[in-house]
Amino acid sequence: MKFFIDTANLDEIREANDLGILDGVTTNPSLMAKEGITGAQNILNHYVEICKIVDGPVSAEVISTDFDGMIKEGEELAKLHANIVVKIPMIPEGIKAIKYFASKGIKTNCTLVFSAGQALLAAKAGATYISPFLGRLDDISYDGLELIAQIRTIYDNYLFDTEILAASVRHPMHIIHCAEIGADVMTGPLKAIKALANHPLTDKGLEQFLADYAKGNQ
Ligand code: E4P
Repeated sequence: MKFFIDTANLDEIREANDLGILDGVTTNPSLMAKEGITGAQNILNHYVEICKIVDGPVSAEVISTDFDGMIKEGEELAKLHANIVVKIPMIPEGIKAIKYFASKGIKTNCTLVFSAGQALLAAKAGATYISPFLGRLDDISYDGLELIAQIRTIYDNYLFDTEILAASVRHPMHIIHCAEIGADVMTGPLKAIKALANHPLTDKGLEQFLADYAKGNQ
């Protein structure tokens, strides 16, 4: 499973990249705003900065909700760097835009996916990735993991190339369950990624090994 980090924070992206396990980055307008990145040119520059850190797909979201606007914005984003993936919302105009970008060889990430029907449409349009929002479904008492499993079955039934990018991941167990189901990619916060490494028996065992070494090598 590929690991993407879901942030626009350059320090966090660097830290995850330095771990050596990072495959890409996802951002969204809320994450950009959280970092205080505003203004069209600053936003474009920020994507370039992210691409300089990580050698992998970087999702950059369009703001337009009409076909022409999405195409104009998406083409501008795609020109920034070869690793840019144009993030398009799951709306009818978005499906048309995904189809257009697929015909031009521009990669897309269909975002705000909350149902199997939406995932099916995005795959038929030729999306490179679809992002089912796991955590946001769990937040309203729907089973986000069940949706990801349903999409996995549908894509496997028809050999769709579209990759399932489990998004809105909140904690390490989400990541583990997504890996069990067979999500192609997960995107989550640095905290959830780092938490995968934690185990009290690892800490206790290491402490013991170091203490025993110290005793014998004084
Ligand atoms: C995905 O690409 C989205 O940016 C993100 O995962 C949304 O996560 P949230 O529900 O934690 O805001």
